[in-house]
Amino acid sequence: MKKVTIFNTIHFVFTALVLAMATTAFGSEPGITSAPYGEFEGQPVTRFTLTNEHGMVAEIIDYGGIVVSLKTPDRDGNMDDVVLGYDDFSGYENDKSYMGAVAGRYANRIAKGKFSIDGQRFQLATNNSPNHLHGGVRGFDKRLWKSTVATPNEHPQLKLEYLSADGEEGYPGNLQVTMTYTLTEKNELKIEYRATTDKPTLCNLTHHSYWNLGGSASKSILDHQLQFYCDKFTPVDETSIPTGELQAVKGTPFDFTAAKSIGQHIEADDPQLKLGRGYDHNFVITGEAGTLRAVARVSEEKTGRVMELLTTDVGVQFYTGNFLDGTVTGRNGQPFAHRSAICLECQRFPDSPNRADFPSAVLRPGEVYEKTTVYRFSAQ
Ligand code: BGC
Repeated sequence: MKKVTIFNTIHFVFTALVLAMATTAFGSEPGITSAPYGEFEGQPVTRFTLTNEHGMVAEIIDYGGIVVSLKTPDRDGNMDDVVLGYDDFSGYENDKSYMGAVAGRYANRIAKGKFSIDGQRFQLATNNSPNHLHGGVRGFDKRLWKSTVATPNEHPQLKLEYLSADGEEGYPGNLQVTMTYTLTEKNELKIEYRATTDKPTLCNLTHHSYWNLGGSASKSILDHQLQFYCDKFTPVDETSIPTGELQAVKGTPFDFTAAKSIGQHIEADDPQLKLGRGYDHNFVITGEAGTLRAVARVSEEKTGRVMELLTTDVGVQFYTGNFLDGTVTGRNGQPFAHRSAICLECQRFPDSPNRADFPSAVLRPGEVYEKTTVYRFSAQ
C-alpha cells in the first residue's frame, strides 16, 4: 500500500515536471482561451488568447477587434511582441491612434465627409478636420463586438460580429459585419471580412496594427527593410485627400519595388513626403483585385523577423507613425515614439466615394462585401 503511494507521488511529480518543461519550451497549448479584460458601457470586455502549434500567440479583444498583442519567434526562436499596445483596457478605450483596431465603416479619409450614391447626398461625421477618417467620431474601433470562438482544422479562430445601425456616423443602411481572425499553422494571422446591407452604403474595412518586427525593445522602424509589390501610389493634397492621379513610384522616394530601408529616403526633399510628414500614402497593389496576392515584405535584420502581407483588396496605406510623438505611454511604460512602428492598411483608395475612376466602395442590398488579409511571419 505504502509502495503504491510513493510510486503515485513520484509519478505525479514527474508528470508535473514534464508538463512544466513542455509549457516553458513551447508556450501554452494550441487553442483558444478567454479572460475578462474590462468593462465598456456596463458590458464585459473579453480578451481571447489564440495559440498555434508553433507557440505563436495572438491576444485579441472583442472591443474594436483589437489585436492587443502578437508574439512571433525571431531567428533564435525567442518570442516577442511585434505590435505596439497598451497595458490594459483603459489604454485602448482612450486611444486616438486606432491602435491594433479595425477601421470602418470607411477606413481612411473621405473629403469633408461628403459623398453621394444614386444622386442622394450624405454628410458623415468629420473627425479629421476637415475630413472624415476611419469611420468617424466613433468608428468600428470603439464598438463592442459579439464574439464566437472555434477551432476549425485545429486552428484557433475568433469570429466577431457587429451590426452598424442605419445612420450611424451619417452612413446609410444597417450594415451587418463579420470579421474572422484565424491563427494558422503557417504562422499567419488571417483576417476575413464579410458585410451585407439593407440600403446602398459604403464599406471599406481595414486592420490598423502598428508593427515593429524588432520586438518590444525596438524604438524605430527606419532600419526595417520594405518591399512593396506596388508600382503606383495616390499623391495627396494638404489635407491628405488624393489628387486623383495615380503616380508611378519609379524615380521617387516612394519606390519600394526593390527592398530598401524605410529610412533611406524618408527625409528626402519631396513635396509628398512633406505633406505626409513622412510616408502616409496609399499604394496601388499590382495584380488582380479579388485574388489573394502579395502586397509587401518587411524584414528586420537584428531579429531576422519577416512579415509578408497578402490581401484581396486594391490599395494599402503605408503610414510610418509620423504622428506618434512620445506623449502617449504604451505597454510597460514605454512611450510611443515618433516612427516607432508602421501601419500597413489594406483598403479601397482614400476618398474613393468621390472618385468615379477609383475602384468602388459602394455596397448594395443583395451584394456581399468579402475581403481577406493575411499577415505571415517567419525568420531568416
Ligand atoms: C492615417 C494617418 C493617421 C493614422 C492614425 C492612418 O491610417 O493614414 O494619417 O494619422 O491612421 O489616425
